[in-house]
Amino acid sequence: MTDTATAPLTFAVTRNLAAKNPAQREAILQDPGFGTNFTDHMVDICWSEGGGWHRPRVQPYGPIPLDPAAAVLHYGQEIFEGIKAYRHADGSVHTFRPDRNAARLRNSARRLALPELPTEHFIQSLRELVAVDLDWVPSGADQSLYFRPFMFAKEAFLGVRPAKKVAYYLIACPAGSYFAGGVKPVSIWLSENYARAGKGGTGAAKTGGNYASSLLPQAEAYEKGCDQVVFLDQDGNVEELGGMNVVFVFKDGRVVTPESDSILEGITRDSLLQLAEDRGLTVERRAVSLQEWRDGVANGDITEVFACGTAAVVTPIGALKGEGFEEAQPQGDLALSLREELTDIQYGRREDKHGWLVRLDA
Ligand code: PLP
Ligand code: COI
Repeated sequence: MTDTATAPLTFAVTRNLAAKNPAQREAILQDPGFGTNFTDHMVDICWSEGGGWHRPRVQPYGPIPLDPAAAVLHYGQEIFEGIKAYRHADGSVHTFRPDRNAARLRNSARRLALPELPTEHFIQSLRELVAVDLDWVPSGADQSLYFRPFMFAKEAFLGVRPAKKVAYYLIACPAGSYFAGGVKPVSIWLSENYARAGKGGTGAAKTGGNYASSLLPQAEAYEKGCDQVVFLDQDGNVEELGGMNVVFVFKDGRVVTPESDSILEGITRDSLLQLAEDRGLTVERRAVSLQEWRDGVANGDITEVFACGTAAVVTPIGALKGEGFEEAQPQGDLALSLREELTDIQYGRREDKHGWLVRLDA
């Protein structure tokens, strides 16, 4: 289905009378962490089979009333997104490639048999939330406002079929570094007993079930002393981490990332690869086997491996550990230099040549 021009929605705004006061908010913004402190408001739009998207609201952040039979609680019909707002030095607030997150939310919706939210409504929801929670967009170094748009089946019905009543919500949290301790190389556990996704499954969709299935292997990674887990597909090709894509840098200047229909198409990855191409580097999107990774590191062909995603931005991989082996990963300059270029664009410190930024507060 194409996303045709859509008339703006008219949001009913209910102010949060119990909103945090400026001193409380500032205390949180000093050290926001990730995903624990939320702004004072949230957005919600209903969808029904007969009525389409309706009842757009901005309301106080708080619990969602849900029937115990709501289909999402039983069959996991849910999707989400992750996107940030960045405060520039002049105080203005911008987001990054929201059309891409909107398109990915629609792709995820198709796979999960949920209704597609038009791009215009998606971007409008970001603007509506920023309009009421503008003061929550932090201005510290590497800080941002992390938006979590999500959609789920709220129809109370235990039959297994796509729900006829759905809700879209948008919440937001001020965010510092995703990994406590800032940008430092992470160690990765190779999950050989568990898969994140399978052929024809939901790997390319951003849906809660993929993350649920990554939790046990992630716990295994912690047990093995690693920070993150990397998944392989059934052919032994590298897929991605639980919440980040993987990129390999070769000594001849090629920048290679796994491609498969079970990987989430990262917007950070796409942007970094574009910046690499702009520098004249050759970018390859193709299958990368575990063998190629391990051989490439052993013989010096691979000079860097890094992970990337909205929450964590760019994180060098410092070690790969699996059953019976542990290999240090080579460290280079490209990951951190691309990270700097990307964040310079996002924070308005460098020209936005590709027109990726969208201003939200005006
Ligand atoms: N892969 C997974 C499984 C993710 O959860 C994410 C994070 O959103 C990514 C990759 C990276 O995607 P993006 O760069 O769009 O945040
Ligand atoms: C993001 O980077 O936006 C993600 O969704 C990853 C997440 C699992 C925190």
